[in-house]
Amino acid sequence: MLFKEKVIYQIYPKSFKDTTGNGVGDLNGIIEKLPYLAELGVEMVWLNPIFPSPQKDNGYDIKDYMAIDPLFGTMADFENLIAQAKDLGIEIMLDMVLNHVSTEHPWFQKALAGDKRYQDYFILRDEPTDWVSKFGGSAWAPFGQSGKYYLHLYDKTQADLNWRNPEVREALFEVVKFWQAKGVKGFRFDVINVIGKDEVLKDNDQFDGKPEYTDRPITHTYLKEMNQATYGNDPEIITVGEMSFTTVENCILYTQPERHELTMTFNFHHLKVDYENGQKWTDAPFDFEQLKSLFHEWGTQMSEQTGWNAWFWNNHDQPRALNRFVEVEQYREAGATMLASAIHLNRGTPYIYMGEEIGMIDPTYHSIHDYVDIESHNAYQALLAQGLTPAAAFAIIQKKSRDNARIPMQWDTSANAGFTTGTPWLASDQQAETINVAAEKHGGKIFPYYQKLIALRKNYPVIAQGTYEAFVPEHPQVYGFIRRYENQSLLVVNNFYAAETLVELPAEFVAGDVLITNTELTEVTQKLTLQPYQTVALLVEH
Ligand code: GLC
Repeated sequence: MLFKEKVIYQIYPKSFKDTTGNGVGDLNGIIEKLPYLAELGVEMVWLNPIFPSPQKDNGYDIKDYMAIDPLFGTMADFENLIAQAKDLGIEIMLDMVLNHVSTEHPWFQKALAGDKRYQDYFILRDEPTDWVSKFGGSAWAPFGQSGKYYLHLYDKTQADLNWRNPEVREALFEVVKFWQAKGVKGFRFDVINVIGKDEVLKDNDQFDGKPEYTDRPITHTYLKEMNQATYGNDPEIITVGEMSFTTVENCILYTQPERHELTMTFNFHHLKVDYENGQKWTDAPFDFEQLKSLFHEWGTQMSEQTGWNAWFWNNHDQPRALNRFVEVEQYREAGATMLASAIHLNRGTPYIYMGEEIGMIDPTYHSIHDYVDIESHNAYQALLAQGLTPAAAFAIIQKKSRDNARIPMQWDTSANAGFTTGTPWLASDQQAETINVAAEKHGGKIFPYYQKLIALRKNYPVIAQGTYEAFVPEHPQVYGFIRRYENQSLLVVNNFYAAETLVELPAEFVAGDVLITNTELTEVTQKLTLQPYQTVALLVEH
């Protein structure tokens, strides 16, 4: 299947390129940079939500599903983007936020005004359960003066929709069809594994109540129904479900091709290995053993049972992987390229988050007021309430804030990193003086390495199609795996540490060709020394 050869690039539209000077990125900015994306070699671009929204959660609070937020441009700009991207061999993936709407959406407004039909679009109860919102506090808020409560798994301005109501499903499928008709070829479904709530909602003090509404069997039924009603009719369409707090068993079910649910799933387990006791708002080093075993568990099981992973190190909700997994001051380039190999040569579809291909890192902000993200502000207050000093609370925000990834894309060394001529909505960072596209194009190592990985995927079916086996799972420093497809076998070894290490190669690979490495390698020997953050891929054709 062709989709397996594609690499997907994620753009956070607010922060990519501003062409109007209002400090917010826009669709024309994306159009302007299409040749850059084509040069990189990506074939699909995922845009975070661009629909009209009060922007309480940066567009994940939608008030009109079938229009473009004037902040980003017009429908004509969007149609132009689709057409111009297509000319360069790039398709567009949109972000569908179908679990909830903004409380400013007409559906919620009509419900509040007393319209019974629209009240059944939401999840209203006389008594709240003990569930905790993912952004902190109770997951329930008073529904006007009615004495009832409405469910909001995220911010209180994001009201969960009642998927049990067939009219709601029908209305949401119309949304997907609307964008399909515009030529959209990819859909990313936001938090789609929490759409299936039970009829009777129960208290559960485990994991903030998540088991009560996550990956419920009915979710699979809804996805099948959506597939059949919408994208299932177009084999070119790629879908990816964002799965929070999920299991490999469920992700296999979501993605086995014969089940006709989704093409692939995002899970987040590998990005929680630096959480202390499972808590995000902590500061702990990453646990390599856990990271490695998660990769092996997901890699092996998905491979054996024909599921399909979406792999990523960065997105708009995560601090930069370079700051989490690499001694970045000394090893930024080696670390960035090693991390890239670990997922681009893996079994699954790799995603690149804007700026990753030039090795962008977390900003150095000095005050909580520099942050915009609603989740960061809630967390800061919660940390203070727990008794942390402002300095200690701020240090955690600096490490964990989602704004780490949302800073403006760094194009060059001009004002605001070449992102805007105005004042950026979120401050650009001093790192742009050295880390930017223009500098990277003149002698940087990361961008050309990504180009090469993307090209290899198209030329070597073992990368796109091969099976997955764990290699040296006990190694204290190396994450290794073997891929096999027809007459090709590929061995990939990645040193996750700043110290050199030795790895013993299986005889079959000693005579292999070096397909790609990020550090000088003169000779492949059975006992291979890997330099700090070195990655080596060896190919054998039988
Ligand atoms: C997803 C999005 C995140 C958003 C949340 C609620 O996790 O990636 O940015 O805040 O859903 O829609």
